[in-house]
Amino acid sequence: MKHIQIFDTTLRDGEQSPGVSLTAGEKLEIARQLAKLRVDVIEAGYAAASPGDFAAVQTIARAVKGVSVCSLARATENDILRAYEACSPSDAPCIHLFLATSDVHMQHKLRMTRDQVLQQIDSAVRFARTKVPFVEFSAEDSGRTDFDFLVQAVKTAVSAGATVINLPDTVGYLLPQEYAQRFIRMREQVELGSALLSAHCHDDLGLAVANTLAAISAGVDQVEVTMNGIGERAGNASLEEVAVALALRADMYGVDTKLELSQIARTSKLVSRLTGMVVPGNKAVVGANAFAHESGIHQDGVLKERTTYEIIDPQVVGVVENKQLVLGKHSGRHAFFKHVEELGYVLSDQDLQNLFMRFKELCDKKKQVTEEDILALVDERVYGE
Ligand code: KIV
Ligand code: ZN
Repeated sequence: MKHIQIFDTTLRDGEQSPGVSLTAGEKLEIARQLAKLRVDVIEAGYAAASPGDFAAVQTIARAVKGVSVCSLARATENDILRAYEACSPSDAPCIHLFLATSDVHMQHKLRMTRDQVLQQIDSAVRFARTKVPFVEFSAEDSGRTDFDFLVQAVKTAVSAGATVINLPDTVGYLLPQEYAQRFIRMREQVELGSALLSAHCHDDLGLAVANTLAAISAGVDQVEVTMNGIGERAGNASLEEVAVALALRADMYGVDTKLELSQIARTSKLVSRLTGMVVPGNKAVVGANAFAHESGIHQDGVLKERTTYEIIDPQVVGVVENKQLVLGKHSGRHAFFKHVEELGYVLSDQDLQNLFMRFKELCDKKKQVTEEDILALVDERVYGE
């Protein structure tokens, strides 16, 4: 089976969600969890953007092993140097360069001609390759780029040594068939050598996951996704939806990933808690209602045979069923700690012990302790809210 590389950009494009700002410590906590989820690449931030983001990328590159750590950079010498300094402690440091190639971006934003853009791609990729072994080049707004010029940009990046070519649909404009065709035609027209092709989709038309899957059918080697689909504007393609679709419909895609699917629920909760971006109840795979059945007919069917109305086994994605029912005054320390962990918290032993005592006090007052009660306890005891 062909391996699809999972490039997680929760900490970079995901953090670009309006209102979200993560500290270096919070990014590290998420990066450790992404490593447990077994993504291939963690885009940890944009090192030149701020001292905090530089520190986050560097801390993650030092501490999180067995995964490639990447920093975003504009195609300039200063950005490349900052990205290099930050990600060089990684086992597999990667610099992700981007430069816009659509006419609208080149004319109004960059104020550069096509020739100047090609020149800058060439020099930036060559310079980055003198620093790190993995250099990804993204033709920003590739979805609205004149295809012949896109071919020229990709040829330039490949001959300068780019190891990954990303064709982002920056504004979420393309339809699945169109996006797929761009990859098929690109492969026909450019000798890519060992360079990988990557897909990066935004959800402005609600098509980010469909477009990502179409790109996989068209033969890309890597997909760029975020946990819970967070990201600029309407967000990015959601990691969990792409991962589960690939696993469940392996008959259609015939590809695999290294992902540890059972870590999905935990990662989703951690990202939601630290970013403050609430996961909608009806969100596929990780929403609170994703495995809830309301109508009597559905409940009856599921009780007789789960697969009548559930195509995904909740346990496969790490969802523990009937959590509300199992926690009460007879619950032991172990079950309680495990539950807290499943909610996405990584706490010290001391915090866990204190929390357990508060939990027992609450059990004496309330018959049934719910997930909301535990979340409130953690916020109150550990985060002092
Ligand atoms: O959407 C986009 O074009 C990006 C690039 C930086 C890859 O996020
Ligand atoms: Zn993006």
